[in-house]
Amino acid sequence: MALYSDKVMDHFQNPRNVGKMDDADGIGEVGNAKCGDIMRMYIKVKDGIITDCKFNTFGCGSAIATSSMATELIKGKPVEEALKLSNQAVVEALDGLPAHKIHCSVLAEEAVQAAVKDYYDRNGIAYDPEKFKVHSCEHCSD
Ligand code: FES
Repeated sequence: MALYSDKVMDHFQNPRNVGKMDDADGIGEVGNAKCGDIMRMYIKVKDGIITDCKFNTFGCGSAIATSSMATELIKGKPVEEALKLSNQAVVEALDGLPAHKIHCSVLAEEAVQAAVKDYYDRNGIAYDPEKFKVHSCEHCSD
């Protein structure tokens, strides 16, 4: 069996929503301390709905595929729903990732959360800080 699913390869080779957004309403940048990969996520919000989303990822193929899928999953969704996006949901939508690449998907989850947090902060929207706890990732040791 191939190491990567067709969906992972597709999103890696043809990533959706790549690029910079100059008029973003929220920007989240996160990095993986172990591998040094960096992901930046931009969201555009109107009436509480994420109307557009873009990303830039300086990182491995799995990080690119998961950021691409994450943008597809949150586009058109309410901000609160995007906040609940888990790395597992992204991995499932990609038909799986090898165990040693799961930590790359955590970056996508964190980038979305960071962008939402930035949106809340910029607009003075109150939120529960508990929702933005730093991920304690048991997979990041590899
Ligand atoms: Fe760094 Fe994948 S190896 S995010």
